[in-house]
Amino acid sequence: MFTEEKKKNTSNVSVFVYCFFCFVFVVGVVRFAKPYYNLQTLMETEAVIEDGLLDVEKSGILPFHSGNHHKLSQSVSESTRTRPPLSYTVKFESFSNMSNLVKNNSGKYESRPFSAGGYNWTFLIFPNADKPEGKNTYVSLYVRIDNSSLITYQNEVYAWIKFLTYRSDKDTYEELHATEAQRFHLFKQQYGMLEFRPIGYYTNPAYGYLFNGEQCVFGVDIVVAKPSATWEDVTYEENIRDPILDWTITDFSTHNHGSYSSDTFSSGGSNWILKVYPNGVGSATGKSLSLYLLSASNENGYVKAKLRIIDQTGSNNVDKQVDGWPNAQEKGWGIDNLIPLADLKDPNKGYLVNDIIKFQVEILAFSRTKSISK
Ligand SMILES: *[C@@H]1O[C@H](CO)[C@@H](O)[C@H](O)[C@H]1NC(C)=O
Ligand SMILES: *[C@@H]1O[C@H](CO)[C@@H](O)[C@H](O)[C@H]1NC(C)=O
Ligand SMILES: *[C@@H]1O[C@H](CO)[C@@H](O)[C@H](O)[C@H]1NC(C)=O
Ligand SMILES: *[C@@H]1O[C@H](CO)[C@@H](O)[C@H](O)[C@H]1NC(C)=O
Repeated sequence: MFTEEKKKNTSNVSVFVYCFFCFVFVVGVVRFAKPYYNLQTLMETEAVIEDGLLDVEKSGILPFHSGNHHKLSQSVSESTRTRPPLSYTVKFESFSNMSNLVKNNSGKYESRPFSAGGYNWTFLIFPNADKPEGKNTYVSLYVRIDNSSLITYQNEVYAWIKFLTYRSDKDTYEELHATEAQRFHLFKQQYGMLEFRPIGYYTNPAYGYLFNGEQCVFGVDIVVAKPSATWEDVTYEENIRDPILDWTITDFSTHNHGSYSSDTFSSGGSNWILKVYPNGVGSATGKSLSLYLLSASNENGYVKAKLRIIDQTGSNNVDKQVDGWPNAQEKGWGIDNLIPLADLKDPNKGYLVNDIIKFQVEILAFSRTKSISK
């Protein structure tokens, strides 16, 4: 049973691989029937080399690595994955064939334009050992942004770039990427890795990069980082304008159900509501009166406030302070045990007089969140 299942899996994998390669862009040799050669392409290549000098770092990753005279600017990470390239894939039917064909195209193969993250790009592959890219020993990979979008839409683009190649012996992709997002603008339209993989990996099938004869695959992930269009600005405000609200309830005994809320009132430019539980809430149920301050606009920030019951015949106001984030159940800031029910109903105390009760809230400080959009 077990071996049978395993076989099934393997055949699924090969069907998947087969289908995948049906979809990837097959490089036709036809495209190279009429290559061109001019000064401009030569100059582009020079630019690529200069770029590469700044972009490559690979310490101890590659066996063919010789003394590194490059200026290292960013660290490159390497990993493996099964997920195919996100943005574009190029398959060479024959690496050595392509290596020869690009000789009179300044050593490079440039893909058709493709779209990623709202911009057009091309993928550049340098597979030729006779050209100076990669110090004669490496395949170099680059992406170039279509500069017309830089001119039309905005003058800089940040993107995370990952370069990939397929390992047929392990049926995985090897991925190399710089940890930082790359900045593209009119004076820097391409980014790449001068030393992606040694050319030697693609000339000897024993390394696992060539399959079905001399086929090999290169790919790229381009993830454009768009700056967020909105953000929030959070302040902590003290010395609140209109800090005190009085709330009087007449016929209090008729409001003896679960809870009772005040009208909306304004303090410090925010809208609030007071909510009383005449018979308590939570652990105070049946024991104490509970009082909560709620935000009328469902804010969930920090609040510092004093909640009071006024002594209508003396000066023994009951006064308790809330100081913190909202209670998750009540979605507000409150005191469950503001006053014991026995004290409240005690006719010798002045909290309930002629069935009138008076609450007061004094808002001392609160955090305010403002949303800002571009
Ligand atoms: C491309 O491959 C074919 C056969 O595989 C070979 O005959 C031809 O010479 C190769 N061309 C180049 C330019 O390497
Ligand atoms: C480019 O190279 C190919 C094969 O190497 C050759 O057939 C072709 O004539 C060359 N084209 C130019 C313009 O040099
Ligand atoms: C835009 O890219 C094209 C092709 O790569 C190039 O010929 C042209 O000079 C570039 N334009 C600018 C303004 O950089
Ligand atoms: C990408 O290329 C297509 C086809 O050339 C074009 O219609 C589109 O406007 C381009 N997009 C950008 C963002 O430049």
